[in-house]
Amino acid sequence: MTHNMSKSQELQKKAQQLIPLGVNSNFRYWGDGITPYVQKAKGSHLWDVDGNEYIDYRLAFGPIILGHSYDEVDNAVAEAIHNGTMCAMTSALEVELAQRIKDMCPCCEMSRLACSGTEATQHALRVARAYTGRELVLKFEGNYHGFYDYMLFSTYAPAETYNNRRNPTPVPSSSGIPKALHSLVLTCPFNDFEQLDRMLKTYGYQIAAIITEPCQGNCAGIDPAPGWLEFIRKKCDEYGIVFILDEVKSGFRFANGGAQEWYKIKPDMATYAKAMGNGYPLAMFGGKKEIMSIIGHGVAQGGTYNNNMPGVVAANKVLEILQREPIIKTIIKRGTRLMDGLKKIFEEYGVPVAFSGHPTMFSYAIGVEKVTCQRDWAESERDLYLKIVDVAIEKGVMPDHDPREPWFLCYSHSEADIDKTLEVMRDALKLAKRK
Ligand SMILES: Cc1ncc(COP(=O)(O)O)c(C=O)c1O
Repeated sequence: MTHNMSKSQELQKKAQQLIPLGVNSNFRYWGDGITPYVQKAKGSHLWDVDGNEYIDYRLAFGPIILGHSYDEVDNAVAEAIHNGTMCAMTSALEVELAQRIKDMCPCCEMSRLACSGTEATQHALRVARAYTGRELVLKFEGNYHGFYDYMLFSTYAPAETYNNRRNPTPVPSSSGIPKALHSLVLTCPFNDFEQLDRMLKTYGYQIAAIITEPCQGNCAGIDPAPGWLEFIRKKCDEYGIVFILDEVKSGFRFANGGAQEWYKIKPDMATYAKAMGNGYPLAMFGGKKEIMSIIGHGVAQGGTYNNNMPGVVAANKVLEILQREPIIKTIIKRGTRLMDGLKKIFEEYGVPVAFSGHPTMFSYAIGVEKVTCQRDWAESERDLYLKIVDVAIEKGVMPDHDPREPWFLCYSHSEADIDKTLEVMRDALKLAKRK
């Protein structure tokens, strides 16, 4: 390590006495002595407690769509909180937000708010189960839908433990998940048309919901194969299954209308969080009126913080800005330039690489020609990926330390940021190959 991390290391030691691993989410622990602790963030940059400055491509795992501490959003929140932050009553701002959501996300004829992506997907699954009267849920290997017990299967485990793709085993990603829940989840490799078809022939009429990320935002951004999302749509119709598109990462990022607009697909329900608040905590799930309107009629849903004012005000402002300005188009342009530049660098060094994802949220797998699912991705050279990232971070460019986590871009990433990133990544690849 060449850059000074002494203050981070000191803070980590203290933190580890008080907080498990010294962090408030397992994903934030990179290892002893190498986990940075943050001082502040503005625009596309962040600074750690040692004063090291980074171009930030983690963006808090995706929420930052405009830029850190974006003045127009922060000012709206600062002004609003003088009128109360929580009231256990509904405000006109919530109705305004539901209207914006409906206008931007075609499947959300009705929506309800929540505080995190975990809650949003959890609520959506309950509604889908209540609507269909069925209990099984099908998810895809490598997708992540939150930290709760009944979806944390086949997410992070080594892909070898998933067993043969004709008969995949749902593998819990944590101790503490009750055995009884194993029987409620089915897992299938992403993009495996034949296997999905086989599983539906056996279980189709017992499945309440198929939930999927549109591209694998928690596994290197693996793209849906042509026709994959349409295939899920068709099969859900055939078996009366609720199709839930988990747009927690893609929503208000891939397009104003999220992945639904980008891939031209209409699910029955969808879940959102991250970009809708640009860092303020707010989430949402929505869907067809026929499905959503069972809430309150024997179907419970609630939450003290669901309509927290900072989140509601921030989301209204973020969506207003997205509707008003070509924000996503600009990010796509810069993200495409970054992806193309990185591809060229790998080519220059003769390193095979498979890029995947969306220009605002992409990744790459090294040493493989193509990845279609987590099983393929597990064959990639993750050690080299990490070596490159380590050098890049030392030189002031910060993608995530976990190769499954995509690079995120925001509106505040400038052309100069992209230039510097490409320069750093060229050096990083050269140095990492030597290590
Ligand atoms: C696709 C997806 N769904 C759900 C979640 C859970 O969201 P949260 O961390 O806000 O609970 C995440 C988090 O990264 C996610 O990527």
